[in-house]
Amino acid sequence: MCGIVGYIGSREAWPIVLNGLKRLEYRGYDSAGIAIINSAGFSVHKKAGKVACLEAETADKDKSGHVAIGHTRWATHGAPSDANSHPHSSNDNRLHIIHNGIIENYLILKEELLARGHTFKSETDTEVLIHLIEEIQNIEQTDLLEAVRLALNTVIGAYAIVILDRENPNQLVAARKGSPMVIGVGQDEYFIASDATPIIEYTKNVVYLQDNEIALIKHNQLLIKKLNNVVQTPLIQELELKLESLEKGGFEHFMMKEIFEQPRSIRDCMRGRIFPLEGKVELGGIKQYTDKLKNAERIIIIACGTSWHAGLTGEYLIEEYGRVKVEVEYASEFRYRNPIISDKDVVIAVSQSGETADTMAAIEIAKERGATILGICNVVGASIPRITDAGVYTHAGPEIGVASTKAFTAQVTVLTLIALFIAQHKKTLPPAKLIDLLTGLDAIPDKIQTLLQDNELIEQIASKIKNATNCLFLGRGFGFPIALEGALKLKEISYIHAEGYPAAEMKHGPIALIDEQMPVIFIATKNSSYEKVISNIQEVKARKGIVIAIVTQGDTKVKNMADHCIEIPDADEAFLPLLATIPLQLLAYHIAVKRGCNVDQPRNLAKSVTVE
Ligand code: AGP
Ligand code: GLU
Repeated sequence: MCGIVGYIGSREAWPIVLNGLKRLEYRGYDSAGIAIINSAGFSVHKKAGKVACLEAETADKDKSGHVAIGHTRWATHGAPSDANSHPHSSNDNRLHIIHNGIIENYLILKEELLARGHTFKSETDTEVLIHLIEEIQNIEQTDLLEAVRLALNTVIGAYAIVILDRENPNQLVAARKGSPMVIGVGQDEYFIASDATPIIEYTKNVVYLQDNEIALIKHNQLLIKKLNNVVQTPLIQELELKLESLEKGGFEHFMMKEIFEQPRSIRDCMRGRIFPLEGKVELGGIKQYTDKLKNAERIIIIACGTSWHAGLTGEYLIEEYGRVKVEVEYASEFRYRNPIISDKDVVIAVSQSGETADTMAAIEIAKERGATILGICNVVGASIPRITDAGVYTHAGPEIGVASTKAFTAQVTVLTLIALFIAQHKKTLPPAKLIDLLTGLDAIPDKIQTLLQDNELIEQIASKIKNATNCLFLGRGFGFPIALEGALKLKEISYIHAEGYPAAEMKHGPIALIDEQMPVIFIATKNSSYEKVISNIQEVKARKGIVIAIVTQGDTKVKNMADHCIEIPDADEAFLPLLATIPLQLLAYHIAVKRGCNVDQPRNLAKSVTVE
């Protein structure tokens, strides 16, 4: 689930692995560890807490050596502690493993190993795996690669692993199933990582290890096999990632940088895809599926978390403009409920990371049942783009803050493009309206730029409500998914309990919560439900709630009722999700900072959730 870094070559391995772990911090983790083969022989350092704690603890240790593996752990089995941190070692302390993911049948394996005399130092599933590999190697008298291959054939679960053998210091063995792994190819050296961010400063050439593949890595050799023993030819690809995009660029936090990047990221997302004057959208990635999309009986959007909220805006947009029936599903529910799908359905999987385990499993189910699967993904070359029939990249650039901001608005942009793409081909909109909408969409990045000038005002509002224990976010129509996303952002990074609701639903329950302590954030822009939302604001005011309203520039009506207002530029209702999201991101950010929270790495959260 979390971070893996490995190095083998002629450079000093420790700084490469340590800095790599720092690059992976954005993924969210609770402990860190490094094993290194050095002149003294071998050493393992591991510690609960941040990479900086590991760094401080090892400051005066001998860290020389040219082969090392490092890990940031996001605990699944056993609490975050020094003992549960990775690397984990075999009984004889010869083999050392780092592992992302979950070994599902670890309990049975552990009982068997205990019965055969193994003892364990941690509560993790990972330690069981390395003991199993050790046992197979001893019984079968094979090399490490073969022992790992045999062991993995008995394992159920998801993993990306790297193993170091102190008796064979010139090699590493790596494998993956359902958890990403990239191998950077240098000059007589290899870099291994769970995503490309630790690799980019050394080489642009990478091999993406595929599911069920296992690799033997020496400084001058990369051998890849399938788990069934068939040798594979490594496919070297070039990374598009830029190093600057992984730095904070003068901002205090990645999240703030990413919020402010949105005019650029949305522009990048639309680049070469919209032609407003011609009333045309071009989506090269899914062009060959145009007929499938416009003739689809149903589009099913599957996603989790923030991407699910983007999916919900997709439902509103596609139904409104493309006139195709849309259902939005939580991937985790969809995968376990025997869904009715046919080859007339088109499934769109939305995922920033492209690695979310639930979304991947849902894709596989839809695939088995014959649906066409399209993907919307931010990370180029991730697993989801590789298992879908076709897709559209969001091109938002690497998103480092764990709470999704610019990736969300880029997903909404792509879904807007898909809605208009269907409308164009299905002719469900008059050409003049299409031209109008595309011209409006083209202007959104500049409007967001203007809106960002409200940052200080939003910070002041944040000061007023930072001590709240609960918050309600309300919106109708296109404002509803934004209310959900606003609430999620706030709870993720400030730990304030927040709920998003359709504004009209408030009176069916949540109204009971409203008192003079309760901030209620309304999306109250001038659109088709403006008057209705005003009535809902009155209902909150009547119960002494604190009203913060997102309103259209120049609004006076809501201003007279609300305690605080944030103006956003006027635009077609279809673009409300893109504009209204920005102040809610800033509000969550400032509240979290004022509460002293770690906004880039909120507690308990991981950037890509590669376990169920
Ligand atoms: C976003 O702020 C969240 N941390 C989370 O809800 C996320 O959107 C979800 O886990 C899905 O991730 P994905 O887009 O990478 O699939
Ligand atoms: N399941 C393993 C553990 O709990 C690995 C977790 C991870 O992906 O970091 O230690």
